[in-house]
Amino acid sequence: MTASKLFLITGASSGIGRAICERLLEDGHTVAGIARDFSKFSKKHPDFHPVTLDLAALDALPQRLVELTKQFASVDGLVCCAGRGQFGSLEEFSYEQIRALMDLNFTSQAYAARAFLPGMKQRHRGDIVFIGSEAALSGGRKGAIYSASKFALRGLAQALREECAKSGVRISIINPGMVKTDFFKSLNFSHGKDADNYVVPEDVAAAVAMILAARPGTVFDEINLSPLKKVIHFVKTEKDE
Ligand SMILES: NC(=O)c1ccc[n+]([C@@H]2O[C@H](COP(=O)([O-])OP(=O)(O)OC[C@H]3O[C@@H](n4cnc5c(N)ncnc54)[C@H](OP(=O)(O)O)[C@@H]3O)[C@@H](O)[C@H]2O)c1
Repeated sequence: MTASKLFLITGASSGIGRAICERLLEDGHTVAGIARDFSKFSKKHPDFHPVTLDLAALDALPQRLVELTKQFASVDGLVCCAGRGQFGSLEEFSYEQIRALMDLNFTSQAYAARAFLPGMKQRHRGDIVFIGSEAALSGGRKGAIYSASKFALRGLAQALREECAKSGVRISIINPGMVKTDFFKSLNFSHGKDADNYVVPEDVAAAVAMILAARPGTVFDEINLSPLKKVIHFVKTEKDE
């Protein structure tokens, strides 16, 4: 039995983030989760603390994060999972859409890490786990801004991993391929029905649990976790007709 710890998860209300929360609660930890809408997170648990917050509202975010570092002062680990998918050629994105996707997928997660890192460094321990993407490993058609946001996250993770080692803070990134979540609800492609075509959120949660439970003094720098078969199913939209 491992000692109970306190973890903060962004993107906690659904999909991968929710599975991470549920896994860490099952493992006996206390979990605080950030998202805008917890109606999707039906499971009530005495050790789960929902924090309703729009991470894309960047102007207000630093102050809210300062408050959270006080509320959860002894946090042992931060999992930066919030994000969304938006795909299309560059010129299909408005300037505002480019900024909004970078704001949520990259800048808000960098702000969260920025807020909690000083406390972890002071305590000489802590974990920050970023949820990247296979789109952080190579760019693909229609993925320019999504890939850019995830490359940025991965660059941040790699640099922090070097920067934080001496302070006893471990930095990791997981790059999943297609995971069966609501991520695809608003997209014109998905993994399809074959179970070999997708990862389930619980697989990513298991990788996070493994990272967090690793022997002190060791770090999982990066984990790439993909479905066995990489098949993309395109859904026909009215635009394609
Ligand atoms: N599914 C995949 O195939 C896949 C593959 C690789 C990487 N990823 C990454 O995994 C992460 C989680 O995605 P998912 O697949 O689990 O999708 P999901 O089920 O749609 O979950 C996204 C999470 O992010 C939160 N979120 C979105 N916008 C937010 C905002 N403005 N403020 C606060 N929270 C916000 C959502 O909560 P609210 O809507 O309640 O705010 C939700 O909890 C994302 O970073 C995604 O890029 C997903």
